Amino acid sequence: IHNNYDEISQWTANHIATRINEFQPTPEKPFVLGLPTGSSPLGTYKALIDLNKSGRVSFENVVTFNMDEYVGIAEDHPESYHSFMFNNFFNHIDIKKENIHILNGNASDLDKECAEYEEKINNYGGIELFLGGMGADGHLAFNVPGSSLQSRTRLVNLNYDTIVANSRFFNNDLTLVPKQSLTVGVQTVLDAKEVLIIVNGYKKARALQNVVENGINHMWTLSALQAHPNGIIVCDEEATMEL
Ligand code: GLP
Repeated sequence: IHNNYDEISQWTANHIATRINEFQPTPEKPFVLGLPTGSSPLGTYKALIDLNKSGRVSFENVVTFNMDEYVGIAEDHPESYHSFMFNNFFNHIDIKKENIHILNGNASDLDKECAEYEEKINNYGGIELFLGGMGADGHLAFNVPGSSLQSRTRLVNLNYDTIVANSRFFNNDLTLVPKQSLTVGVQTVLDAKEVLIIVNGYKKARALQNVVENGINHMWTLSALQAHPNGIIVCDEEATMEL
């Protein structure tokens, strides 16, 4: 628990940089990092860009896998998760383009796209550290309430709460928000050696309480983190109001 959002971001960026540096990645043995979109990780991305620019961490031998992507909007749409990741992070660090993996929500065979994504992760020997955020209903990636905690990368329908929450990026017009997405499953995230989840602000307080103080429950999918041997929630004071 940190005092505020800036402290969360700084701590999380330093933690990730330390993990990468300790790992001493090489082209043959890259560091595999799972990444989220959303407003929660924005400060961490800014802090990581600063650490990269000042030479305190390099992404040259880092391979990334993003959590999710909308179905049915162009890759270069300003609100696609591709655009989000390049604008807010990848364009500003020394990562190699071929090391970036983001699900393709416009693939002709979406099921095949998802199966191949899991295969690619496995081919790298799994994910070392998965960074994430949490939806206000306790969801992880796009694993909305009711998703199986054993779920893997797949096509999902977004629930009404998520569509409303994301409409802020689409002129507050619900009809413009994509209704489906491709997402890694809860189990895909839990397979990572370490899982780091950023939770900030009072709007997440109720979900955080359900996620950490109640039992593991598929209606609050992030609660599955309780069973992870190396899961960390990095939060601010506001988010802990209901604990
Ligand atoms: C979307 C994303 C999640 C993210 C959530 C919360 O549902 N798929 O990965 O955690 O939004 O976003 P924010 O951080 O903006 O609150």
